[in-house]
Amino acid sequence: MPDATTDVPSYWDRYARGVAPQDPGEVLASAGWTQYPGHGPGFELLGEAVSALELGFGRGAAVAALASQGVKATGVDLSPAAVDRARGQWGHLGAEFHHADAVEFLAGADQRWEAIYSVWGAAWFTEPGTLFPLVHDRLEPGGRFVFSCAPAVPGSYGVQGMYGAGFNGRRVWVYRWAYEPEAWEEILAGHGFRQVRVWEEPAPEPDHVGTLIASAVR
Ligand SMILES: C[S@@+](CC[C@H](N)C(=O)[O-])C[C@H]1O[C@@H](n2cnc3c(N)ncnc32)[C@H](O)[C@@H]1O
Repeated sequence: MPDATTDVPSYWDRYARGVAPQDPGEVLASAGWTQYPGHGPGFELLGEAVSALELGFGRGAAVAALASQGVKATGVDLSPAAVDRARGQWGHLGAEFHHADAVEFLAGADQRWEAIYSVWGAAWFTEPGTLFPLVHDRLEPGGRFVFSCAPAVPGSYGVQGMYGAGFNGRRVWVYRWAYEPEAWEEILAGHGFRQVRVWEEPAPEPDHVGTLIASAVR
């Protein structure tokens, strides 16, 4: 019998149980920001960060990969299944995997990070006007905020809603946000970020879906 989805964490629990595990070595070798293994930029986008926080780590392999390189690596995810799996798989590397909503976690954090990032994770599943000021506040001065997500469908901007449990299941509303690169740049700059750069990384195949990547500095 399929899992019943009753709320947003359960929606992401289903995702966590359904997705194949990822190897941190592959993440390091194969860049990691795009949906195409081995394609696009790598973790050099985070600069020489000594500490890094991932918002919505999912499989946890990026956090594990950074920890294995000596970075003080932390992740936060609202899916209990994702957190349990990441702690079991990668906890021995010294990485920290927290169970919380990214907004609540950042609002309650009493430390700062040199990099805060999100790979198709919480950054585009959270209202930017709520999330971005918290990210800015919890970055060290000069620290980088980098995230990747899907480019906007032309003509469809701002909040995008979907029924997470389908049309004949429980009413689960999942929201994400989509903008053209110039609009993301304005939003980031409007929240105090500088050196803002947002672009669409083209897919390896012409006419396939590319990746939106945003990079900004506190
Ligand atoms: C599409 S998955 C990608 C995760 C990861 N990059 C990977 O490759 O496994 C999105 C992840 O973000 C998490 N997430 C979504 N919204 C979140 C929020 N508001 N706070 C924390 N985590 C969130 C989900 O639980 C899920 O694990």
